[in-house]
Amino acid sequence: MNRKYRKTVIAGNWKMNMLASEVKPFIEQLKAELPKTRACEVVLCTPAVMIPAMIKAGKEAKVAAGGQDVSKFEKGAYTGEISASQLADIGAKYCIVGHSERRQYHGEDDMLVNAKARALLAKGIQPIICVGESLEQREADLTMEYVAYQVKAALSGIDAAQLRKCVIAYEPIWAIGTGKTATSAQAQEVCEGIRAVIRKLYGARPARAVSILYGGSMNAKNAAELLAQPDIDGGLIGGASLKPVDFAAIVAASNQE
Ligand code: 13P
Repeated sequence: MNRKYRKTVIAGNWKMNMLASEVKPFIEQLKAELPKTRACEVVLCTPAVMIPAMIKAGKEAKVAAGGQDVSKFEKGAYTGEISASQLADIGAKYCIVGHSERRQYHGEDDMLVNAKARALLAKGIQPIICVGESLEQREADLTMEYVAYQVKAALSGIDAAQLRKCVIAYEPIWAIGTGKTATSAQAQEVCEGIRAVIRKLYGARPARAVSILYGGSMNAKNAAELLAQPDIDGGLIGGASLKPVDFAAIVAASNQE
């Protein structure tokens, strides 16, 4: 982390878990567990149907609400889709785009991820843009090349002012939901590489100001070491964000200097 130049973000990704009726009790427990002072933004990205409940319950606990996906279209005949203006209208502050599970199960490609990020930015929602390599790519020594391409594609057509609203999340696919975390050195290396790609595209200042998160089996035990890395500005947390005690411990770990 480097709080002098950028914000720390601890974001949970609930994926397709929990119920709207469980949001309030979850937040009450989380609030009791959270450190009294914190130096990060806390976000929970829930299924869209729970966002209103999260906004209501999260207000007092200072937990921001986010979505997990958005349509690239503004409005119209797209049954089942949710637009950026609909998310903005109910008060969502963030939205994940390009999660590997959407890339894998819904065939999302880099251009679609870019279109979704731009749709969100146009409505004032901060995209959390996910990138990350597969195990095969890592083993073939293609990690940085592939992640650099994903970052460039996702940011295509996004100007420096809009970049300030973007959060990048590095999530190696092999570390998601597997209990296998990237070592802090591996995660730092790629996050540093992502910042270098952004520096080339936008210059030193904008690159210094972008928050880059790590995601993939981050938990209460390994968070402090990952967050101590200079280019890791927070976490995108799946499993551990479903447990108030664990999620609060990760927030507490981000309080370190
Ligand atoms: P886990 O923390 O469960 O590995 O999930 C990470 C993730 O995919 C967050 O978006």
